Formats: sequence, structure tokens, C-alpha cells
Amino acid sequence: MKTIIEPFKIKVVEPIRMTTREHREQVLREAGFNIFNIRAEDVLIDLLTDSGTGAMSSEQWAGIMRGDESYAGAVSFHRFYDRLRALTGFTHILPTHQGRASERILFELVGGPNLIVPNNNHFDTTRANVEHSGAEAVDLVIAEGRKPTTRHPFKGNLDISRLERLFADVGPQRIPLVMLTVTNNSGGGQPVSLENIKAVRKVCDRYRKPFFLDACRFAENAWFIKQREPGQRDRSVADIVREMFDLADGATISAKKDGLVNIGGVLMMRDEQLAWRARNLLILTEGFPTYGGLAGRDLEAMAQGFEEVIHEDYLQYRVRSVEYLGERLLAGGVQIVEPPGGHAVYIDAGAFCPHIPPAGFPGQALVCALYRHAGIRAVEIGSLMFGEKGRHPDMELVRLAVPRRVYTQSHVDYVIEAILEVFAQRRTLKPLEIVEAPPQLRHFTARLREVGT
Ligand code: F0G
Repeated sequence: MKTIIEPFKIKVVEPIRMTTREHREQVLREAGFNIFNIRAEDVLIDLLTDSGTGAMSSEQWAGIMRGDESYAGAVSFHRFYDRLRALTGFTHILPTHQGRASERILFELVGGPNLIVPNNNHFDTTRANVEHSGAEAVDLVIAEGRKPTTRHPFKGNLDISRLERLFADVGPQRIPLVMLTVTNNSGGGQPVSLENIKAVRKVCDRYRKPFFLDACRFAENAWFIKQREPGQRDRSVADIVREMFDLADGATISAKKDGLVNIGGVLMMRDEQLAWRARNLLILTEGFPTYGGLAGRDLEAMAQGFEEVIHEDYLQYRVRSVEYLGERLLAGGVQIVEPPGGHAVYIDAGAFCPHIPPAGFPGQALVCALYRHAGIRAVEIGSLMFGEKGRHPDMELVRLAVPRRVYTQSHVDYVIEAILEVFAQRRTLKPLEIVEAPPQLRHFTARLREVGT
């Protein structure tokens, strides 16, 4: 059979409240043309993020009832620990409330002034935690990873020669560890090859430096390795996942992505001494090491989620549905970051609205148009997000992040139709200007208006 179906049936439904264009127009104005200010009930299809927005399975909900809420040594912790130990092989496994809590603990321990942390591309919170420690975050993704139209099977790869040069230029004493984000969210959700992970490992071995994965989307990355990397097709995803983690000394994970849960995170490592210090920090701000700021029921849901996410029928459906969205947009003439990523499609808003300069926020104009036209909530990753102090990023993007197991193919078809209709009227999209904004992270709270209305 050619048709790939959603590998699940729907047991519980959450109604979508239909809205009219007039209503959405009013909502958009009241929100100051900022979709972060819109109530979820006014959104038809929410593609703001794939983080914490997935649907849990009946087994995960059953786990929620089984959750053991003991303060120390809960049964649920041991289920969580055993599952992650089998999946990753790490010995020290700390639960946290979400990914950035793991990052905060890690960089409080290894970061500090005058240090440099390389990565393919740091996600915003990783960068912020590196910088909060006083260190500098450096992005070393390969050149292909920075161009929307360049096709490469592993556009998330780290440029090994640039990593070598960094070690040679600044000296190994200033580099506390090397990180690799799989898949590379800030670079378009693009995967990293096993070969590249091995090459990073080699450099770290040469300089005796720890190597950590930011492994939020490890299962999607492993699926891409199985599909695209020579010699990997006959291996199981579980086997590839294990090899990815075996090559690293530790990992941070936001379980809100490939943990298939609404809240939770993990910090893992092999080093006994580092783990002892991490556990002490965990107790200080998150909680006792057998619950880490979560309820026992959350640990149960994670244990089950980390099992379900490596099922290959799930991964095939997951990655294919995102790819389908990307392919149909490209076929309709809409430029996206190619090829589509694992969890999201990124539209090149600069190409979509050539009549709007970066200073007029073409990405935000498109985000507003999608909401107004069809009630779709996407997010701008361009001059509004990164253009503080008059700087403009390399690309003006709009991200359509797909929640896991939430939307069906007809929802995806609706999104495609809406985007192509907006594309047909793209000349009518108006530039925006900022009315008020805070000095930092302005995209969350800024208020804007359309110019010429
Ligand atoms: N690392 C990556 C690669 C991420 O994508 C995220 C979150 C985090 C770390 C932080 O995890 O949110 O649990 O604290 N990404 C979400 C997104 C927010 O929309 O891409 P967190």
C-alpha cells in the first residue's frame, strides 16, 4: 500500500472552535498583531510549537493513574530510569521539569567566563544558558545548513574543520565541552549523520573533552539516519538511537518533544563526579533526584513515551506528514527551507513577500495573514525575533511546527490550501511596525501595527 496512515485511532477528541474571518481580524488587532497574545481557543490549527503539544497514548494516560507519588525512590522513577538506561546506556539519569532546566544545571557546572561552547546551532534556551554562565556560544553548522535552497541529506551536520580550527585558535582549555543538537531545530529541524557524530567524537577524544547531545528530537534524527545514511537502512531505530548516545558523554533532553509528553526533561551523563555535582544542583532548584520537579505520574508518562517514540510505524508517519506539507508547498511555488525538517516546515518569508523589507517584518506579516485567513498560528523566526538593535538575521523564516499525533491529514491539507491561497494574494500583505516592545526577547510581548492602514 502506498498510503501511509496515522498509526493510531482516536479515543478522545478535543473540539476545535470554528471562528469567522471578522472575529479573527478583531482578535489580531486586540493582540497587537502578535500571535503570542492570542488565546488558544481562537486558534483553529496551532503550529506555534511541537513542544509539549503532542497527544499522549492510552498507555501513557494509564501510566498517569499508576503514578507513584512517593517523595523518594518512587516506583515511577525506577520505570523512567530503566527505560532511559535501556534506550541510552547512560548511568546517571536525572529527571528535570523541562529541557532548559537540564541546560541550566549543565552550564552552571561546566560554563563560565572566557569559555566557548561550540554546537551545530544552539537553540535559544541553550544559547541563553551558555551566555548566562558567562561563556560564549558558537554555531558551527556546515555551510549548506545556512542556505534555504541547498539540498543536503544532513544539513544539521557540524563543520568538523571549523571545530578543529576553533580548538587550534582558542586552545582546548577554553572549550569545556562540545555540543550537537539533534535534530538541529534552529537550522530548520535538519538531521545530523552518524558519520558526523563520530567525527565530533574523534575531535573530542583528541582534546579529551566531553561531548554532549542536545537530544530533544533524537528519534526523528535516528529515523533520518536510517532512511538517508548509506549502510543504515537494515538497522532498527532502537539500535541507531543507542549508537548515537553511545558516542556521547552525556545529553540534555526536553521530553516535550520526542518524550511524547506535555512536560518533562532529562539530564544524563557518564561521569560520576559531574553527576554528583549535578544532583546537588538538582536538589537545590528542581527537587529530590528521584522526581526532579515532576510528579510521579509525569515520570510514568515519560517512561512510556520514550518507548513509543522509537516505533518505526510512528516515525514513518511522523516524518512523512511533515515532508508532505513541505512538498506540497514547494509544488505550489512557496519557497521553504529544503528539504523539510523532522518536526517543522520553515517558509522563506523573504521570498514569499519580496515587497516587504526586513524592517517591515515579512515573516510576521505572513504569520498574521495565515491567522487572519484561516486561523492558523505559526511563528516568525526572523527580524522580529532576532532583529533587536537594528540587526537583521540571514533569513526571514516562518516556522510551521507540527505537534505529535494531534492533527490528521485533512488538517494538513487545510493548512496547505490556506498557505497557497495567501500566496496567491501575497502582494496584499502589509508591512508591520513596532508600537511598543521590551529591550530583550521582544517577539513574545511586542505590539505592532500594519503600516498603511
Ligand atoms: N533544545 C532544543 C533543540 C529545543 O528545541 C528546545 C525547545 C529546548 C532545547 C528547550 O526545551 O522548552 O523543554 O525547555 N524548543 C521549543 C520549540 C520551545 O518551540 O522549538 P524546553
